[in-house]
Amino acid sequence: MKVLIVGGGGREHAIAVSVNKSDKVDKIYCAPGNGGIAEIAECVDIGVMEFDKLADFAEENKIDLTIIGPDDPLAGGIVDVFEERGLRVFGPRKTAAIIEGSKAFSKNLMKKYNIPTAAYETFNNPDDAIRYLESAPMPIVVKASGLALGKGVLICQTCEEAKDAVRSLMIAKQFGDAGNEIVIEEFLTGREVSVLCYCDGTHIKPMTSAQDHKRAKDGDQGLNTGGMGTFSPSPFYTDDVKKFCEENVYQPTMLAMKAEGRDFVGILFVGLILTEDGPKVLEYNARFGDPEAQVVLPRMKNDIIEVIEACIDGRLDEVDLQFEDNAAVCVVLASAGYPEHYEKGKEIVGLEAFKDNTDFYVFHAGTKLEDGKILTNGGRVLGVTAVGPTINIARRGAYRATEWISFENKYMRTDIGKSVEEHH
Ligand code: AMP
Ligand code: GLY
Repeated sequence: MKVLIVGGGGREHAIAVSVNKSDKVDKIYCAPGNGGIAEIAECVDIGVMEFDKLADFAEENKIDLTIIGPDDPLAGGIVDVFEERGLRVFGPRKTAAIIEGSKAFSKNLMKKYNIPTAAYETFNNPDDAIRYLESAPMPIVVKASGLALGKGVLICQTCEEAKDAVRSLMIAKQFGDAGNEIVIEEFLTGREVSVLCYCDGTHIKPMTSAQDHKRAKDGDQGLNTGGMGTFSPSPFYTDDVKKFCEENVYQPTMLAMKAEGRDFVGILFVGLILTEDGPKVLEYNARFGDPEAQVVLPRMKNDIIEVIEACIDGRLDEVDLQFEDNAAVCVVLASAGYPEHYEKGKEIVGLEAFKDNTDFYVFHAGTKLEDGKILTNGGRVLGVTAVGPTINIARRGAYRATEWISFENKYMRTDIGKSVEEHH
């Protein structure tokens, strides 16, 4: 079959590598793709928000299945456009993708269906929000309700800081319309765990756990980023935590969406925080995480196409989802200055060391192929993943492999997965 992947980051590269392993697949296209994806897929120069052009392409090229990677096209209704044209596509419809696109929606859903989450209030106007903050306990968390590249969450230590956050989201519109509505919620402490789940509208199957490192600098210092590295599985996601989440979070979320007439088909990413009072949901995403996909997918035993087709056809209950009994660590190589100002267009050398090296992967996030050379083309440039029997061995492997690659202004965190080592 022919598969089209929509997106062009490290997540889509990880999806492409998994798709490429399937015996069912003869040809992969990726729109727009990137320099690394181009090695296994034909990259097509169409943007992720050009729904009609993408659907035209799928129709003209007789694509059997389209997989949507990023949040923006999902929230914008790309799946609805494909379905209306009778094209087979994997991802939630617009009415279901709202679980990520509106934090106000997801918080209200959790409250209505008793799914554990931080206490909160939503606001549509800055005066009400500021009045509320006068008597609210600190620290507190102020969030833009809409999509803001993972950057619309502000943790505030003081009332003044929180009021400034409200002003910057709602009045200065730092994240545009994403801040028209905000959520103000209780500050929680605990270990964070990401669990990505396959969903067919009725059934939900959680994958192995992962943990992201969102801050730019070692020791969780610096600005929030899209993610500087991940490890999988999380030793903090114990069997008890898993059981609790299966009973109180995953299945209840599926049923809640169904009850609301918003059947969720696709990948539900559950961002959890393990507090003293038990696991709570921090956020939902309606897609694979980036860079969570870069550690979870390399550990999956199943043929990804079989699992995705079961989701689309509503028979996920027939799938025996299995992961290797091993571990993976992904270290993001970024351009110095990310997530603020950074340079692009630097030549990357050393990538060939990953060829035919089954325990090592280099996923391209922001690269492009120009005149036969691979150049940097974004803040997050590459994700270097190593698989090994334990997190510590995978971690050492990943850091060793980061040395095979060089480009000007290469930057990475040096402590991805290190807290696991300290935990033991
Ligand atoms: P979100 O996009 O909602 O997951 O928020 C991004 C990050 O902000 C999370 O991964 C947490 O590290 C942090 N965060 C969000 N909400 C809370 C909260 N209620 N308490 C503490 N930290 C939070
Ligand atoms: N790594 C976090 C995310 O994909 O949202």
